[in-house]
Amino acid sequence: MANPTLTITDNRTGKQYTVPIENGAINASELAKIKVAADEPGLVSYDPALLNTAVCKSKVGYIDGDRGILRYRGYPIEELAERSSYLETAYLIVKGELPTASHFRMWQHNIKMHTMVHENVKHLIEGFRYDAHPMGILVGTVGALSTFYPDAKNIMDVESRRMQTRRLIGKMPTIAAFAYRHSRGLPYVYPDNDLSYTGNFLSMLFKMTELKYTPNPTLERALDVLFILHADHEQNCSATTVRTVGSSHADPYSAVAAAAAALGGPLHGAANEAVIHMLREIGSKEHIPDLIRQVKNRERRLMGFGHRVYKNYDPRAKIIKQIAHAVFEVTGKNPLIDIALELERIALEDDYFVSHKLYPNVDFYSGIIYEAMGFPVEMFPVLFAIARTSGWMAQWAEMLLDDEQKIVRPKQIYLGYDERHYVPLATRREVEGVPHETEIRGPL
Ligand code: ACO
Repeated sequence: MANPTLTITDNRTGKQYTVPIENGAINASELAKIKVAADEPGLVSYDPALLNTAVCKSKVGYIDGDRGILRYRGYPIEELAERSSYLETAYLIVKGELPTASHFRMWQHNIKMHTMVHENVKHLIEGFRYDAHPMGILVGTVGALSTFYPDAKNIMDVESRRMQTRRLIGKMPTIAAFAYRHSRGLPYVYPDNDLSYTGNFLSMLFKMTELKYTPNPTLERALDVLFILHADHEQNCSATTVRTVGSSHADPYSAVAAAAAALGGPLHGAANEAVIHMLREIGSKEHIPDLIRQVKNRERRLMGFGHRVYKNYDPRAKIIKQIAHAVFEVTGKNPLIDIALELERIALEDDYFVSHKLYPNVDFYSGIIYEAMGFPVEMFPVLFAIARTSGWMAQWAEMLLDDEQKIVRPKQIYLGYDERHYVPLATRREVEGVPHETEIRGPL
């Protein structure tokens, strides 16, 4: 059909409305035309958690959840994981095309020029408590970068956007490594720009007294692939956050800090941390049935399983499982892998998981590799945030330059009190037997 439409009959009035269908969607503002009386607000769509609402048109990432497909700018994730590097993939995501050899050289140079942080950033990190969660340090420090780079507020200037993109991609590993060293009470290691993006990151994390750190090439490559797998994932919770905060024209550091905060939740990018805690708690294979029983009784969730979009398998989880073997050849096997494999096997044969279409997601195996590589669990979401920075910047810029976008301002369905009038404090009735404010009903 050339111009597909949808016809809606309002049974309250008998009126019919023809609504255009474009790209498989109707424009929700068309619904506002459907009203009983001319002076009323009109129909809205109700979609808590945006389960079935497209909030933007995007060219960055594509997911087909039923077929287990993920592509960045059209390129299958499997090809990028096998043949690309994180910095090349970041270029692809940010700029829209793979670089030519000379552009790639320039891009690498430009990112490396921004790996150092201002000494005051270092002092800022030193101010955190010794046991501060590194994700909290990352969120706070990235937010603080806007005070170091006030030019970032020039969001409509392409040169400024490019500069902040290079700075963010360049500095994320440095801030992450400093957060780790802080938690260990170790002196910070400054960037070594002779090394690759992930090689330098490993150096800033793990270099001790040696004059030059030489990363293990297998681990360096494994981390690079993990970063590729985490670089973008279209409109997930943190990408939606970067777009939402950015829609107020906040600077990109503030928007990315907010996105990282969203990523830090256990239902999103910190699920990898929760998986390790869960596998450690299981302890050995014979305890798996007990965990499965708890999950099926809805006492807890199986962390690292399930996805809003993937209902077949998460292609990233497949690739990660393969990387695990290469990493374990260097580091020795992480015993948690056996529990994880058995847990996956049992779950995938169980009717609850099959009928709910619950499969391992990216976080199920990534933590096991990170742990084998020597990362403490608290660092897992931080690693995710480093990789996702390129995706966040691409989503942010796409939102900013999209003429159809405005400041995000959803509607609500108000179910609270109708108008009521203020009663002076002295005449308000005390609730019998409730002397303390915390005992009053309410969520807070
Ligand atoms: N374990 C057990 N049951 C689950 C799980 C799980 N991990 N995930 C979903 N379900 C069940 C729910 O109980 C629900 O069952 P019901 O319909 O019988 O009530 C059904 O599956 C649908 O669950 P929702 O919560 O509605 O699914 P949603 O799409 O909102 O959630 C999410 C997706 C948050 C990822 C969920 O699967 C989950 O909590 N997984 C565990 C946490 C996790 O691994 N998060 C990482 C996701 S990947 C990422 O963010 C990088």
